[in-house]
Amino acid sequence: MASITKFILLSLTLCVLHLNFCHGQNAVKAGYWFPDSGIALSDIDSKLFTHLFCAFADLDPQSNKVTISSSNAGPFSQFTKTVQLKNPSVKTLLSIGGGNSNRADFASMASQSSSRKSFIDSSINLARANNFHGLDLDWEYPQSASEMKNLGSLLDEWRAAVATEAKNSGKPQLILTAAVSFASKVDGLYQYPIPSVSRSLDWINLMAYDFYAPDRPSTSTRCHAALKDPSGQASGSSGIADWEKAGVGAKKLVLGIPFYGYAWRLVNANNHGILAPANGAAGPDNGVERYQDIRTFVAQTPGAVVVYNSTYVCNYCYAGTTWIGYDDNQTVSTKVSYAKQNGLLGYFAWHIGADDNLALSRQASQAWGA
Ligand SMILES: *[C@@H]1O[C@H](CO)[C@@H](O)[C@H](O)[C@H]1NC(C)=O
Ligand SMILES: *[C@@H]1O[C@H](CO)[C@@H](O)[C@H](O)[C@H]1NC(C)=O
Repeated sequence: MASITKFILLSLTLCVLHLNFCHGQNAVKAGYWFPDSGIALSDIDSKLFTHLFCAFADLDPQSNKVTISSSNAGPFSQFTKTVQLKNPSVKTLLSIGGGNSNRADFASMASQSSSRKSFIDSSINLARANNFHGLDLDWEYPQSASEMKNLGSLLDEWRAAVATEAKNSGKPQLILTAAVSFASKVDGLYQYPIPSVSRSLDWINLMAYDFYAPDRPSTSTRCHAALKDPSGQASGSSGIADWEKAGVGAKKLVLGIPFYGYAWRLVNANNHGILAPANGAAGPDNGVERYQDIRTFVAQTPGAVVVYNSTYVCNYCYAGTTWIGYDDNQTVSTKVSYAKQNGLLGYFAWHIGADDNLALSRQASQAWGA
């Protein structure tokens, strides 16, 4: 009896280990990092994360190969080794593209099977050569039904290629993810290729932020990344519900949390709520402010007030005619708890370097729990 029990226990244990190892993750507590973003790699407390994204590798429009610029080559090659010093089990992904890349180059690459193959093969080679555990596609954004169809082919071929590579190399399969619009249709028009997303990606990162900025609308203050919106307009929760309705399971969804906000200029210093009259940005770059700079602003400005609005799940602060909508501790905790309670795979932050001495990263990790 003892040996049979032992055998069954051993099989169960192996099965559980195998499942954890081969079929995705239990939880994703992630963040993006890029060089010169405000924090040195060695200063990231990687115990606060399960996955770290290194941004960005580029798409060469001539060769359709993924490349790393010469200035990034050093830090990217050290990325995995450095972050694993404090947490040997943290996994790393090389992120490709990003908001400043040329979306037309991605559309062109994805349109032909030969150029898709160049992209796929070079991405796998780069990931292995630089010791990453996975790859992340940040194509912002496909802009037509045919581009979405081509994206589906790309994802399915990418998955087949990493499966073959793992079989041949004996290494664990590379993780494949993509950063996507907060809802399942870009601009409410172009539907992501849902079956390919579901079967070929380990998960998707929902960019649930930038719903508003001081240039849209310029005439009233808004939370740019509210979890909820009573008027039914763009929000994190509406995006999650939309992806699920489109057919992507909650366990494929990772909720994006911005470590930055936007500063509007109030028309009247005494009218300072959400949807208060405004006239554009307070400050350069359309009013974008890192969390650490918002904390400094609050600490150094006499009379500055921080408010948490639970209707929208959003913080804002104001002083004089400056009004900043952003994610502070309470917003971050509430979003992370919401993600967990709704069965999502996890959350990610854009971006770790905008945090204030890792305060939000710590808050998020605690809110999710072990
Ligand atoms: C949040 O802000 C909205 C818009 O200004 C307001 O109507 C609502 O009462 C606020 N919610 C809370 C809980 O204060
Ligand atoms: C946020 O939480 C961290 C610890 O979790 C704490 O050190 C910090 O003071 C908090 N910040 C605010 C603004 O409450």
